[in-house]
Amino acid sequence: MKKRIGILTVGGDCSGLNSVIRAAFIRAKNLGYELLGLKRGIRALANDPIDFIKLTDKLCNEDMLTNSGSIILSDTKWMSSTIESGKSIEDIKNMIHEGYKKLELEGLVCVGGDGSLRLINELLIKNENLNIAFIPKTIDNDVNYTDYSIGFQTSLEVVVSAVENIRSTAKSHERAMVVEVMGRDAGFIAMYAGIASGADIILVPEFKYDIEKVKNKVKECFSNGKNYCIVVVAESVEDSDFKHNVENVDGVMKYSHLAYRGIGQHLVSKIKETGIESRCVTLGHVQRGGKTCINDRLLGTLFGLEAINLIDKKVSGKVLLFSENRLKTMNISDVIKSVNKVLDLNNEYVKAARNLGVYIGEI
Ligand code: F6P
Repeated sequence: MKKRIGILTVGGDCSGLNSVIRAAFIRAKNLGYELLGLKRGIRALANDPIDFIKLTDKLCNEDMLTNSGSIILSDTKWMSSTIESGKSIEDIKNMIHEGYKKLELEGLVCVGGDGSLRLINELLIKNENLNIAFIPKTIDNDVNYTDYSIGFQTSLEVVVSAVENIRSTAKSHERAMVVEVMGRDAGFIAMYAGIASGADIILVPEFKYDIEKVKNKVKECFSNGKNYCIVVVAESVEDSDFKHNVENVDGVMKYSHLAYRGIGQHLVSKIKETGIESRCVTLGHVQRGGKTCINDRLLGTLFGLEAINLIDKKVSGKVLLFSENRLKTMNISDVIKSVNKVLDLNNEYVKAARNLGVYIGEI
């Protein structure tokens, strides 16, 4: 039997996952390994029989560079529902170790976000037998120490293109259009896409805002002859009159996440108090699809190739990172020590937004 490496994608999908899989397949093949695509994330290893596909040249063709989603599927709920069903983290670790042994894997490439990073860290604790390389992916771009995670840059393309479509109708109807974007507790999508699409107001969870100043900025767009206004708001933004329902929709603890909805509509109702017509567009999951942008193809390719190199060299427990134009690695245990990355006042794009006169809150 050929030596085997497994690869899985876990958490919310995004563009660029298939670029990672393709590059990992090519590198694994060149080093004499078979690459197994474990289906639906971590759960594949816990299930009996283990659900996987052997990746082939035919599957991993160049279309993988373009197409979003994950050909090996992804899952966001398995961890929380398994814990809810009464299993402990220890039980889960054992199930996964069993699956890894059963498949006789030489290593595992895990492509995931922050939640999966913490789980993988737990799996590695006191387990020298596992050989794992971790690739950060999330449109939210909130994984620390990397400038970009897979999927973020394509989501910017999608948001910018949507705002451009919305701009023409905003102009025709002389309206204030509020565009609600994803990003969980980080405002990267809102800030970067807002600047790139020329938004007048960008609201992010990192910076508190004054609703009166939002209204004044909207009025200014109508008094200076522009006669329309674009507001980009991140989904998790709150104000004194609007709090998210913190009911835990996915079940349990740190592996679950809350659904954020409604801030866009709330802003519309406030803007209408000025007498200006306003509408909200919530972009939602369109931000996770689309034609993969070139930067995500490049990043996915670098990460996919290097993950296999690490596994081949038996260097386990590393996260792949890209910063200062270089591919880097760091221990998973070190990356998770700090809280998720968010915007701060030193961020060049935050400074740029202020210098452009965009209202981004009271900072
Ligand atoms: O973490 C990625 C993300 O797309 C967030 O931006 C968003 O809040 C969440 O996932 C949506 O999750 P779901 O697909 O479970 O609705």
